[in-house]
Amino acid sequence: MNERVKIVEVGPRDGLQNEKQSIDVETKVGLIERLVAAGLRHIEAASFVSPKWVPQMAGSADVMRRVPAAPGVHYSALAPNLTGLQAAIEAGCKEVAVFGAASESFSQRNINCSIRESLERFRSVAELAMSEGVKVRGYVSCVLGCPYEGPVAPEKVAEVAELLSEMGCYEISLGDTIGRGNPLTTARMLEACLKRLPVSQLAGHYHDTFGMAAANVAASLALGVRTFDSSVSGLGGCPYAAGASGNLATEDLVYLLQGMGFETGVDLDKLVAAGSFINAALGRSSNSRVALAMTA
Ligand code: HMG
Ligand code: MG
Repeated sequence: MNERVKIVEVGPRDGLQNEKQSIDVETKVGLIERLVAAGLRHIEAASFVSPKWVPQMAGSADVMRRVPAAPGVHYSALAPNLTGLQAAIEAGCKEVAVFGAASESFSQRNINCSIRESLERFRSVAELAMSEGVKVRGYVSCVLGCPYEGPVAPEKVAEVAELLSEMGCYEISLGDTIGRGNPLTTARMLEACLKRLPVSQLAGHYHDTFGMAAANVAASLALGVRTFDSSVSGLGGCPYAAGASGNLATEDLVYLLQGMGFETGVDLDKLVAAGSFINAALGRSSNSRVALAMTA
């Protein structure tokens, strides 16, 4: 049996939050159904943020109520504060994610508070969530560069990651929000985190803006990371990170992992079909090199 890698599909959240047009609940649920059918087992389906800040995520409660219940399938949603957590719990979420940053300017622009204030907020979110039996994941953004401040110190990333872990986040997803990293900077950042946290607690969340995300996954695999976030068809970006484009396409991640002998549980043909579905709804073409090659 090949070694398994956990894929967290973030297309319905990280992907759709950044599309110009609004996408109806029906289409979002249709995408999630197809992702489940393709074998994805961890899906970030929604985001309980202010609709004034991210209008594309309006309707998240309806999405969460309609996602298909299937054995072994786990859904999560972003919850930046107690308002978001309450809404997530009411909609039936069993897992939420708080999202902090290793850069002050990005924290201010994205969630309107300092890193310190955000961590205080997340602590109350984590406490309440865990008391309700809801799991909490933690993101650190700008781990390999910030759109406003430039390079970010690996030590700062490690410090925020450790604080998220201490408040109860079971997994820390390290976000290269603007895809500035390369295998060398990725390894340095991970090595700093590994001085404080076990590798099993770390996930790579690499945006593919400069085409380096797959290489950064390979560098992370070499250091023992076995969890990666990706987005079907490479959808995505962050509306508060100028220049951020989509995540690593899940199709490209699966192709890479399968080729390197890892087990993913994903059916690549069905995944490509899920990508075609959402691209047709959005009137766009795929950002996945693998999907383009397979449908040529
Ligand atoms: P704020 O304006 O400071 O919040 O925003 P506030 O507490 O002062 O409240 C202002 C208003 O928002 C109030 O309503 C609240 O009720 C409402 P009003 O009285 O004006 O009618 N409000 C909410 N409504 C719905 N859901 C909520 C909520 N909270 C307050 N949860 C806030 C602070 C955090 C809410 C805001 O900045 C926000 O929503 N930011 C979200 C930005 C975002 O979603 N960014 C994208 C996700 S992060 C990302 O993509 C990076 C990642 O992928 C990793 C990586 O790639 O690096 C995760
Ligand atoms: Mg992201």
